[in-house]
Amino acid sequence: MTESADTLGPLKGAEQAEGQNVMSRFRRALSMEIMVGQAHIFVVLGASGDLAKKKIFPTLWWLYRDDLLPPTTYIVGYARSKLSIPQLKEKVLPFMKVKDDEKEKFEKFFGNVLYVQGAYNEASAFEKLDNSMNSLPGGVQANRLFYLALPPSVFKDVSANIKGACMSKHGWNRIIVEKPFGKDFDSSAELSSHLSSLYTEDQLYRIDHYLGKEMVQNLLVLRFGNRVFGPIWNRDNIASVIVTFKEPFGTQGRGGYFDEFGIIRDVMQNHLLQVLCLVAMEKPATKNANDLRDEKVKVLKSIKPLQLEDAILGQYVGDPKGEGEAKLGYLDDKTVPTGSVTPTFAMAKFNICNERWDGVPFIMKCGKALNERKAEVRIQFKTVPGDIFDEGALRRNEMVIRVQPNESVYLKMMTKSPGVKVEPVSTELDLTYSRRYQGVKMPDAYERLILDVFTGSQMNFVRSDELAEAWRIFTPLLHKIENEKIKPIPYKFGVRGPKEADEFMKKIGYVYDSDYQWTPPKL
Ligand code: BG6
Repeated sequence: MTESADTLGPLKGAEQAEGQNVMSRFRRALSMEIMVGQAHIFVVLGASGDLAKKKIFPTLWWLYRDDLLPPTTYIVGYARSKLSIPQLKEKVLPFMKVKDDEKEKFEKFFGNVLYVQGAYNEASAFEKLDNSMNSLPGGVQANRLFYLALPPSVFKDVSANIKGACMSKHGWNRIIVEKPFGKDFDSSAELSSHLSSLYTEDQLYRIDHYLGKEMVQNLLVLRFGNRVFGPIWNRDNIASVIVTFKEPFGTQGRGGYFDEFGIIRDVMQNHLLQVLCLVAMEKPATKNANDLRDEKVKVLKSIKPLQLEDAILGQYVGDPKGEGEAKLGYLDDKTVPTGSVTPTFAMAKFNICNERWDGVPFIMKCGKALNERKAEVRIQFKTVPGDIFDEGALRRNEMVIRVQPNESVYLKMMTKSPGVKVEPVSTELDLTYSRRYQGVKMPDAYERLILDVFTGSQMNFVRSDELAEAWRIFTPLLHKIENEKIKPIPYKFGVRGPKEADEFMKKIGYVYDSDYQWTPPKL
C-alpha cells in the first residue's frame, strides 16, 4: 500500500516566496560576478546546425528574456552556409517559444545578433570574424565566449583558428565544448592535448548538460547540507545505488550518428558517471570548482575498468503490436549499418574501491526505446536487522532523487499502518518540487550552464583529468564490444529492458519491491 502527501495543500507565505526568490537570487549572483559595464560577445560556431538552432539560440534568448545576460551582449553566429539574419531568424524561431507579449523584446534581442559566413579551416575567414567582432561597440575590449557546436571533424581546425585570430586581447576568452570528447581513451587524450596546447584549463568549459539539471545540482546540498544523511551514507548502511536513465523513443532516424557511439558513450560514460561521482564523492574542502572536481576524480580513480561480465548489453527490436516508431527495431533504421551490434541499452556494475564504498554495488542502467522517460538515483538501504514485526513486512528504505520528469526527492520508509493495528506499512516522505515550489520557474540545464560560463564558474563543467579517468574505465569494454562484435540481447521496443537486466540486479543484491509504487502527489 502506498501513501502520498497529496492531501497537503499548496504551501503559502514564506515557503512559496522562498521558491519565487530563486530567479532573483540568480540575478543577484550574476550581477555580482560579471562586469556589468563591459560588452560580451557570444560566438556560436556551427550556427546553422541542429544544436545551435534547437538549444543554443533558444537558451540565449531565454536568458535575455529573463534579464540574465549582461546588458551589452552580442551574439555572433558563424558557419559555412550563406545565411542572412532574417534567414537565421526563420531557422531558429520555431524553437524559441516567443509569447505574443514578448515579441518586442525578441526583436531587440535579435537586433544584437550578427552572422558571419566562413570556412572552418581557413585562417583568413576567422580574421574576418575577428574584424566583425572588433567593429561592434566595445568589441575590442569585450569578453568573448566561443561555443563550439560543431562536428568532431572540424573541431581541431576551429579551435586552432579561434586561438590564431579571434581572441580578445583585453577581455577574457572562454571556450565551450560539447561531447563527443573523443571516442576512447586515446582519441580523447589526443583532443585534450590539442586543446591544452591552445588554451589553459580555466578557459575550457566541457559541457555535460546533466550537471546543469536541478536535481543533479541538488545532490551537493542534500548530501552536505543535512546532518541526517552524512552518517549513514556508506557501506555500513547502503546496500546498493542505482542510477537510471530511460527514454521511451528510439533513434528517430539519428541512427547513423548514434551507431558510431552507442548508449555507453552517449549517456553512461558522461551523464550517469557524473551523477555517480556526485553521489559517491567525499565532501569537498569548499564548493570551489577545483575542490569539487578533485573529489570526483578521486572517486573515478577508485573504480577499475569495466569488464564484460559486469555488464548487460541490449538492442531494441520492433514491437509488431506497437504504434508508429515502436514497430521498428534499431536495425530497421535505414541509417544504421546492417548487422550493427551497437548497444541501445546497457546496465553495468561498478565497485568503488575505497573505505566508504568497497563492496556496495553501484549500478548504472540506461536505454532507448524503453517503457518510460525517467532519470533518477535510487539509494537502497540495508534490511533492518532483528525484525520484531511479522516476518517479511519490513521493506528496505530507499532514497530516490528523481531527476526527471517530475523533480522530487522521496524517502521510502515504514510507518505504522493507521488504525487499530500495530503493523508496518510502506510509505514515503515526499519532496515533490511541483507541489513544494509551486509556480517557481526552473531554468533549463543549458540556461544554468551558459550562465556559469558568463560568471566564470567551472563547478559544473568537466575537467580534463576527470574525462581521462572516465575513458579509462570504459575503453576496454568498448573496444571488446567493437573488436569481438559482442552481440547485444534483443529487447522489444517499449519494455523495461532485457529481462536479463532485472535478473542481474537481483543477483547483485538489489531487492525489488513489487508492492510499492511511488505516486507523485496531485496538485
Ligand atoms: C544527450 C544524448 O546527451 O542526452 C541523447 O546524446 C539523449 O541521446 C539526451 O537523448 C538526454 O537528455 P535529457 O536532458 O533529455 O535527459
